Formats: sequence, C-alpha cells, structure tokens
Amino acid sequence: MDSYNRNKITNNIHYFKRIDSTQELAKRILKKKSLKTPLTLVADEQTKGHGRHGRDFYSPPTTGLYFSIILPNWKKNLSKNELLTIDIAVVISKVLENFFPDKSFKLKWVNDIYLKGFKVAGIITDVYPNSNGSLNLIIGVGINLSTAQFPNYLSYKAIGINTKSTVDQNKLLIQIIKKIIKYYYSKKHFLNDYRKRSLILGKNITIQLGNKTIESIAQKIENNGYLTVKEKNGNLKTFSAGEIIRVRLNKH
Ligand code: BTN
Repeated sequence: MDSYNRNKITNNIHYFKRIDSTQELAKRILKKKSLKTPLTLVADEQTKGHGRHGRDFYSPPTTGLYFSIILPNWKKNLSKNELLTIDIAVVISKVLENFFPDKSFKLKWVNDIYLKGFKVAGIITDVYPNSNGSLNLIIGVGINLSTAQFPNYLSYKAIGINTKSTVDQNKLLIQIIKKIIKYYYSKKHFLNDYRKRSLILGKNITIQLGNKTIESIAQKIENNGYLTVKEKNGNLKTFSAGEIIRVRLNKH
C-alpha cells in the first residue's frame, strides 16, 4: 500500500448521530481542506441519504450502515474508472458474505447488492476536486442491515439483510473500509467474481435510457464492465454505466 498505514484506519473515522448525507458532508469537507490519507464519515441516521440519479436512500437510525470514504489522490485511470463501481460492489459483497455466510448476495448491474430479489445495499461513487485541483474519490455505501420497515414506495423492492441481525456493525464497517482501501491502492480487478454474482445475466431486463426503455436479455458483462444485451429483434447492444439510468429485472 502506498504511503498509507492500514493500522491508522480507525483514527480516521468520524461518527455522526444524525446528518443529512455523509456523501454531501464529504464534499463540504473537501471544499475546505485537502486530505492526504483516507477519511471515513459514518452516520447512525441520514435525513437526506441519496443514491445515483438523485434517488433517495432510506437511512433510518440504528438498523443500517451509512458511510462515505474519502480517498485522496484519485488518479484518472481509464480502465480503473470503468471497473471501479463493479470492483467495489464485489469487495463489499465478499465482506457481507463473511458476516452473513448463509446468505447469497447478488449484484444488479452496476452496483446494487440484492438478496432474494430485494435490494439490501447501494453504492455511489463521486470524483470530487480539492481547492488545489487534485481529485478525491468519494465512495458512499448504504447497507440495510436489520431495517424491517420501509416507506411504501420501497417496500416492494428493499429489505434488511436480517431483521434479527446481531452483527457487530463496527466490525463490519472496519472490514469494509480496510478492503476498500486495500483495493484502492492495488491494481486488482474482480470481473469474474462480479459475473458469478450477477443477478441479471441470462434474464429478461428493461433498460431505461433517458425517456426510452429497451426490453432485452442481459447477455454479457464485457471486460471493460459494459453490459451487452440482446434485443427482441436479436440485435446485440452494449451500454456503459453512464448511459443507463435504471435496469429493471422483469418478473417473468
Ligand atoms: C444507490 O442506491 O444508488 C446508492 C446508495 C448510496 C447510499 C449511501 S448511504 C451513505 C452515503 N450517503 C449518501 O447520501 N449516499 C451514500
């Protein structure tokens, strides 16, 4: 690992009882100062937790893990950029598998973590500059650990991993932070691990591109992380994560 000493991780975690969003707090911090080492912001509850495309991330007190890790010195590296969200989803899934060995976590392209067809975790990544122009990567992670009740609009698509969970949230958090930081300073990718856990490969899906939707079958996760699908007319089409707003798994 570069110049960063892994044992210092725990010194660089800031806890908040209630906050709007750890992801937004990370950006506010970076507006004021530049960091040399990773910093994690954790909230017991978020009032404005959000995900990709401005969607809400429901973050009630105590029953979930909501945090953002600021990783300084993000070097724009094309191959790493494309695979980043995929890799992070695998890194987190592997830690969850250790803590919940009887659960079979699946990944919905790009980086939602599912259990039994319901979303249990979401990941958002933002690249954010310091005032001196150097870049930081902010990885925001929300995990529904024991959340038993969701607002109506989510109740048919989200669940908690285990509503009776007694998992040690701090241990889980530290493991995830360690693995993310290790990945950040490495050159490893996890495409095959990703494909093995895919929720969508071989399934009928609906893709939303702006206002347009496309019915297709998910065929392949390409080596650059793009998704290739087969349309009803047999045409193959490949999409990047930036193009697609939503992938919906069709229930038939
Ligand atoms: C998604 O589902 O699209 C991603 C959800 C990411 C949620 C986490 S919770 C901690 C951090 N703070 C936020 O506001 N969002 C991320």
